[in-house]
Amino acid sequence: MTTAILSALIDEQRHLLDRLEAPQRVAHAGRGFVTGRLHGHTLVLALSRIGKVAAATTAAALIERFGVSRIVFTGVAGGLGAGVRVGDIVVASELLQHDLDASPLFPRHEVPLYGRARFPTDADLSGRLAEAARQTLAQADGWLDAGLRARYGLATPALHHGLIVSGDRFVATGAESRALQAELPEALAVEMEGAAVAQVCFDYGVPFAALRTVSDRADDAAHTDFPAFVRDVASHYSDAVLGAWLRMLPNS
Ligand code: ADE
Repeated sequence: MTTAILSALIDEQRHLLDRLEAPQRVAHAGRGFVTGRLHGHTLVLALSRIGKVAAATTAAALIERFGVSRIVFTGVAGGLGAGVRVGDIVVASELLQHDLDASPLFPRHEVPLYGRARFPTDADLSGRLAEAARQTLAQADGWLDAGLRARYGLATPALHHGLIVSGDRFVATGAESRALQAELPEALAVEMEGAAVAQVCFDYGVPFAALRTVSDRADDAAHTDFPAFVRDVASHYSDAVLGAWLRMLPNS
């Protein structure tokens, strides 16, 4: 059984890559994939690049070319829900494309011919991912030092579990963020890939889970220090949470 760990950007999985045992690089579909072993599991680490189409291509390649039996996405997102703050973790229970609109032919957000707008994640994988995130946050004092907390204005990080929305836009104005919150009041966070990967996994019947560290509030300050946050904070969350998650799963 092979598990895929997918991220948009290299920095979101840098530490996992550093730890991978017996890494083998494979070029396919214009992308780099790295296979190897970690915490008793056979893995493929892959970069989706940014946006829904790039993520869907990568997910399909993981399934068709590498035969993966489950996919987990780890990366960053903009916080939308009230109380979803920078430094928090969101584990997706379901995902939706916020920019999909084939109305009046189909209801707003519904994926045409699927009869649904929301794609659920796998309950078992997501439950364990949430548990791994809970354990990691309980020990956050060990690695989230005062300097990092001050630099990024991090409070005590919290865990959220619910709807994540995806679209081909980096949401970086208060107006757009408020519009999304009004249209989709349940949405906890916004990013650019997850719902596309969820749809591909739905098509193939491959279990999927997704974890996002909140890097910004999807408002006018969203671009501030984004790459630095991914490097300094989110990469450590991915490493710690996915490490704990892999150790929880039966060896594969
Ligand atoms: N990923 C991280 N922050 C984001 C934002 N504000 N909009 C879309 N994707 C994001």
